[in-house]
Amino acid sequence: MHFFRYRGKDFYAEGVPVSRIAKQVGTPVFIYSHKTLNRHYEAFHKAFSGVPHIICYSVKANSNLAVIKTFVDEGSGFDIVSGGELFRALKAGADPKKIVFSGVGKTRDEIEYAIKKGILMFNVESPQELREINKIAGRLKKKTRIAIRVNPDVDPRTHPYISTGLKKNKFGIETEEAVKEYIYARRYLKNLEPVGVDCHIGSQITQLSPFIDALRKTRELVRLLRDQGIAISHLNLGGGLGITYEEERPPHPSRYGQAVIRETKGLDNLTLIFEPGRAMVGNAGILLTRVLYTKKGTMKNFIITDAAMNDLARPSLYGSYHAIKASKRRAGEELTADVVGPICESGDFLARGRELPALAPGDLLCVMSAGAYGFSMSSNYNSRTRAAEVMVKGRTYSVIRKRETFRDLIRGEVY
Ligand code: LLP
Repeated sequence: MHFFRYRGKDFYAEGVPVSRIAKQVGTPVFIYSHKTLNRHYEAFHKAFSGVPHIICYSVKANSNLAVIKTFVDEGSGFDIVSGGELFRALKAGADPKKIVFSGVGKTRDEIEYAIKKGILMFNVESPQELREINKIAGRLKKKTRIAIRVNPDVDPRTHPYISTGLKKNKFGIETEEAVKEYIYARRYLKNLEPVGVDCHIGSQITQLSPFIDALRKTRELVRLLRDQGIAISHLNLGGGLGITYEEERPPHPSRYGQAVIRETKGLDNLTLIFEPGRAMVGNAGILLTRVLYTKKGTMKNFIITDAAMNDLARPSLYGSYHAIKASKRRAGEELTADVVGPICESGDFLARGRELPALAPGDLLCVMSAGAYGFSMSSNYNSRTRAAEVMVKGRTYSVIRKRETFRDLIRGEVY
C-alpha cells in the first residue's frame, strides 16, 4: 500500500503532481512518500505489538538522512553494515542502543567506532571477527554484546545474488560451529557478552515457509544455548520480506508477525529483532525520469530516458521488473518498447519489451518501487551526476538531497 496514484489524468505523489517536482527540481529525481514510510513502519511494528521486539530498519536499502530521520521519529532501531551507515544513523538522531551491526567484513576502525558509540550488538559472521571484536573491546575496556549470525542452510527461493542463508553463501557461521563459538566465547573471550542469535536468509522473499524454516532452526539454537547456560535474550530474524513489484503476493507483515509469534511461543524473556529494508522503503519511492528521444529500430522500439543504470541498477544487475507509468494518463494505442538510459552499455535498461502509451520527447515516466536499493546503489558511472531526492509530505515537498553538480564529480581528485 502506497500513496502514489493517478488523480484525473495526472500522476501524484501524495498531494503533489509529479510533473511539478520535475519542473522545479529537474529529472531524474527520486520521490519518496513520507506517509507511505510511516505506514510501512507502523504495519511492521503493529504486527509484533504483542511481543517484545525492536525493528532495526536496514539502512542499506535507502540511507538518505531524511528517510532515516523519518524512522527515528517512529522509534525505529537500525541495522547497519558499515561505519558510514553508523555515521548516517547517528547524524539522523538514531539511538545507538537500538543499532545492530551486520556484515562479513567489518574493519578494525568500524568495530572501534561502533563499540565507542555503545551500539546494541554486533552480528558476528566469523570466528576471526569474534576474536577481533573481543580484542578491541578489551583495549577499550567496554564489554560488548554480540550475536552470532548463523547460516541455517535454508533456500529463500529468490534471486541467487540476494540469497544469503545457504551453505554455499559467504554469510554467517554454520550452526554446529556457531555453538562451539558461543561456548568458546563464554569461556575465553571475556570482553564479549553473547546475548543474541542472528540470521538473515535473503531478500525479496515472497513466501512464509523459508522464514519459518529458518526460525525453527534458530529457535532450537536459542534453547540449546540457554540449556548450556548462555543467556540469550535476543533473536534476530533479519530482513528479507518481499514487496510487490509486478504480481508477487508477499505475505503482509501481519501474517508474517502471526507466524513468528506462534513459532516463538514458549521462549520467555526473548526480544525479537527484525531488519526490514525493502518492505519499509521499496514502494515508498519512485524514480521520475524524462523521455529524451524515441527511436524505432527494425527489431525494437526504444524509449531513451535521462535516467540510466547508474541511477537504478536493479534491472541491469538482477533483471528486476519495475512497473513504469506515464505521468500523464492517456488513452490510445500502446507500443512495445525497451526503456533505456544514455549509458554506453547494452545492459543499460530500466525495462524491456514493455507496453507503453505512445511517448514523445519531454514526457515524464515514473519508475515504480524504486525506494529500496535505488539511490543507495546509484553511481557516477559515465560521469553522470547522481539524481536529486525529494520527500513529499501531503501537499508539500522538500529536496532532501540536491542533484550533484560537475564540481561534486571531481571533489577530491588531483592532477
Ligand atoms: N539484514 C541483512 C543482514 C541484510 O544483508 C539485508 C539485505 C537486510 C537485512 C535487508 O533486507 P531486505 O529487508 O531489504 O530484503 N540490492 C538487492 C538487495 C540486497 C539485499 C542485501 N541485504 C536488490 O536490489 O534487490
